[in-house]
Amino acid sequence: MILPIVAYGDPVLRKVATEIDADYPNLEKLISNMKETMYNASGVGIAAPQIGKAIRLFIIDASPFADDEDLTEKDREVLKNFNRVFINAKIIKEEGEEWVFSEGCLSIPDVREDVFRQPKITIEYQDESFNTHTETLDGLAARVFQHEYDHIDGILFTDKLSTLKKRLIKKKLENISKGKINADYRMRFPNAKKGK
Ligand code: NI
Repeated sequence: MILPIVAYGDPVLRKVATEIDADYPNLEKLISNMKETMYNASGVGIAAPQIGKAIRLFIIDASPFADDEDLTEKDREVLKNFNRVFINAKIIKEEGEEWVFSEGCLSIPDVREDVFRQPKITIEYQDESFNTHTETLDGLAARVFQHEYDHIDGILFTDKLSTLKKRLIKKKLENISKGKINADYRMRFPNAKKGK
């Protein structure tokens, strides 16, 4: 089932999400719905707060980046298989000199901005069977993870922009929260006028 994606301005996107365990109700169904919702919106990641649940769960499928010819063969191979469920994820270490990449977000349609992040991370997480994994990610895989991880801490990529950039997109963000936007997927707007 495709779920409505929560738009910028909804308080659920600002919550520090809570950890879950294997007893979380209907988790399998929730994960499958989130996947369907992500693919329907052509996203490479989606976090539970974006469908209205403040829990530490997100999904990534970065395989669309595997076609990017600007990337090395090795990176493309990694991204092709970077399709996972992350539960209760933690970033153990972030390393290297910050690099810039133009990010977007399903909750903030039609906004893309350069964001600086460190290139290499060591993470720990549980998969959908609650097995614990530790691994190191770099480049775009790390980037997508960092973006989704921010969501479960109530952080959006627009928070990381310069004061000037924030000022320049302020009106656009307000319009998104009011539903004055044409997204080609289902959304839920916190400040939409009733009856619209
Ligand atoms: Ni996002």
